[in-house]
Amino acid sequence: MSQTPASSPEPSADPAPAETVAPYGTGPVVPKPIKRIRTHHLREMKQRGERFAMLTAYEQYAAATFDEAGIEVLLVGDSASNNVYANETSLPVTVDELIPLTRAVARSVSRALVVADLPFGSYQASAEQAFHTAVRFMKEAGAHSVKLEGGTAMVPQVELLTRGGIPVMAHIGFTPQSEHTLGGYRVQGRGDDAARMIEEAQALEAAGAFAIVMEMVPGDVAAQVTAALAIPTIGIGAGVHCDGQVLVWQDAFGLRTGRMATFVKRYADVHGVLLKAARDYAADVKAGTFPGPEHTF
Ligand code: KIV
Repeated sequence: MSQTPASSPEPSADPAPAETVAPYGTGPVVPKPIKRIRTHHLREMKQRGERFAMLTAYEQYAAATFDEAGIEVLLVGDSASNNVYANETSLPVTVDELIPLTRAVARSVSRALVVADLPFGSYQASAEQAFHTAVRFMKEAGAHSVKLEGGTAMVPQVELLTRGGIPVMAHIGFTPQSEHTLGGYRVQGRGDDAARMIEEAQALEAAGAFAIVMEMVPGDVAAQVTAALAIPTIGIGAGVHCDGQVLVWQDAFGLRTGRMATFVKRYADVHGVLLKAARDYAADVKAGTFPGPEHTF
């Protein structure tokens, strides 16, 4: 894990990877690594046609590992509701439950941009409510930005937060916090809805959003939205033409088992590794082969 605290002093201008240094105009051109991913780096990556990766993270070791792997953005998602707090949906999780998780993630990374998801009921009532909630995540948890769900209705929230110095990631398409109004887990933006989705994305961009998550949107519609925006899009079930991709890590790396959404690719079997380790440990304890002399004072 990186030993650099999230709050350590940094140079004021972070170089983008395309920037290069050739001391005194001689020698090889050496790319300067980005010290901390900022929102403008993601926009510059889009301009260069470079994709970036985002994962959820909810605690220290996963966050530090993903940061070490070079994942550009870590989302402390309200999906902690079902992946940490064992709820059925994302609706029950509270600001007070998400703040300690966000703080742990922010403290554990040295490079990734940390995005705090604003939970259901903590921002929809008004721009002022959104501002007060977002300030808590920035001040108490050390988040670098926040995410909120919704289209044009969220424009006042995005405007106020952005004006107040809080970078906002928007989230359109299937928005899990609205599953009851959307009629369950359904693909959004089909047919006539495609034009509306592009308009909503443009309204959020104009309001100041620095990126937009698109969840469960047809690939061709996501491609049109991506082409219509200067800010990056991040897909989850939205095809390959988004500027970035996001997955819930327990799904992607196989800590969670059972039925998965079609858009999830499984990269590892962490559940299997933990299960075997736990069984081996229990067997050693029962057989008296752990602790051995080397573990004994
Ligand atoms: O909370 C979450 O994990 C999310 C992602 C699915 C984008 O919002």
